[in-house]
Amino acid sequence: MQEVVLRGRGDFAEWRDAARALLMGEIEPDKVSWLCADRAGGGLFASAGSVLPSPRPGARPPTVPAPFVHLAEAVICHSDPGRFSLLYRLLWRLAGDRALLGMRTDVDVVAAHRLAKSVRRDCHKMTAFVRFKEMPLAPGEAGRRRFVAWFEPDHFIVARTAPFFQRRFTDMDWLIASPKGSASWDGATLRATDEGAEKPDLSDDTDDLWRTYYASIFNPARLKVKMMTTEMPKKYWKNLPEADLIPGLIASAEARVIEMAAQAPTMPPAFHHRLRREEEPAPVVAGETLEAVRQEANTCTLCPLHCKATQTVFGEGPERASVMLVGEQPGDEEDLAGRPFVGPAGRLLDGVLEETGIDRRALYLTNAVKHFKYEPRGKRRIHQRPNAGEVQKCRWWLTKEIDLVKPRMVVAMGATAVAALTGETGPLGDMRGERMLEDGRRLFVTVHPSYLLRLPDEDRRMQEMERFRQDFRAIAGRMAALSAAG
Ligand code: URA
Repeated sequence: MQEVVLRGRGDFAEWRDAARALLMGEIEPDKVSWLCADRAGGGLFASAGSVLPSPRPGARPPTVPAPFVHLAEAVICHSDPGRFSLLYRLLWRLAGDRALLGMRTDVDVVAAHRLAKSVRRDCHKMTAFVRFKEMPLAPGEAGRRRFVAWFEPDHFIVARTAPFFQRRFTDMDWLIASPKGSASWDGATLRATDEGAEKPDLSDDTDDLWRTYYASIFNPARLKVKMMTTEMPKKYWKNLPEADLIPGLIASAEARVIEMAAQAPTMPPAFHHRLRREEEPAPVVAGETLEAVRQEANTCTLCPLHCKATQTVFGEGPERASVMLVGEQPGDEEDLAGRPFVGPAGRLLDGVLEETGIDRRALYLTNAVKHFKYEPRGKRRIHQRPNAGEVQKCRWWLTKEIDLVKPRMVVAMGATAVAALTGETGPLGDMRGERMLEDGRRLFVTVHPSYLLRLPDEDRRMQEMERFRQDFRAIAGRMAALSAAG
């Protein structure tokens, strides 16, 4: 039997050199007995059996696939005494079967992955549970701040995990001590030793800070004890200052949840905005120009629609347009573009304007309501009709637009526009066509282009489209007459 004694404290090179010599000496795995120095009797490194065999004549150093090296580097950190023989068996078998590691049902492969996983988990826990304590500098001593931490890993992982702390805490000097090796950083050199250390007394005032922090982030309503102890296994608790709070926090969680529920804020009534004073103060506009009003409208909060809309969609067109077209409210595309009638309804309207010889650039286009009202449904935003209160609130802006543009004729497209302009709410069919408003302006009532887009019956849609065109032919005629009259 070939005996090999290793320190066995996570040093991959130590095992690799021995394994390479055994392989070149063609020593079969079951003829090797791997021992750890601290178990091998006679003290560290004490074993004549560590004399390794000479290579067989003509034997060449073995080559192994990179995944084996990565796996073995992790496995070697495990504290299982069987890891050396397991890895040597895998190495031996790999010489005859390079695809061995791909066989995820092979007993040795499975065992190696299980050990590597446990090592990785231990490394992860170390990155989460190391708590540094600052070591005060001696009076008169200058230099960088120094920190010390104590951690008790399951495996020999301190050297493997140390580069994480070097990257994370590069601007301070630190030492992480553990019974399975220590690591330190001084701003220039990362050192690791596999010598175990004695637990220092590191309790200080910062323990209370950890406790306060932990108690404040602990949410009793989200407590899942099983998950919590998986994430923060009990074996680590003894070195975590906050851990002594955990049993008490768990015990009082239920009572605290009941208390929190009793103190939960009550929601305002669903229609709280309607309960607000009816007499909203009118917006204050710096200057009586369309531009000043537009700027002010950008920050309008007169009704709740501004909360969900992307932006205010104010009217656009010449400041002295003779005809103003009023729609209902911006749609999805208008809300994103910040311009009225640029979506499907706008495109239909553009087509009819072109067919009836009206230049869109000569019109002032606006809406009764200046914010998009919708309900989210999946990724879509579904248009909602503005209610009477919202139309009423927004009338302030529409009136300002009419006062400043002074159109000779206003075209109301759809019932909402009619309601905003006249307060009337009857059937649109009864109001369709031209008439005079009290202020001497002409009002032309027609349907909204969205109505035409929604008509399911093709024949009906063609008929309604034709009526809509007729309306715009009449509007074009009125525009020509108005311009001739000067
Ligand atoms: N519908 C409207 O009433 N106005 C627009 O700007 C777009 C669609």
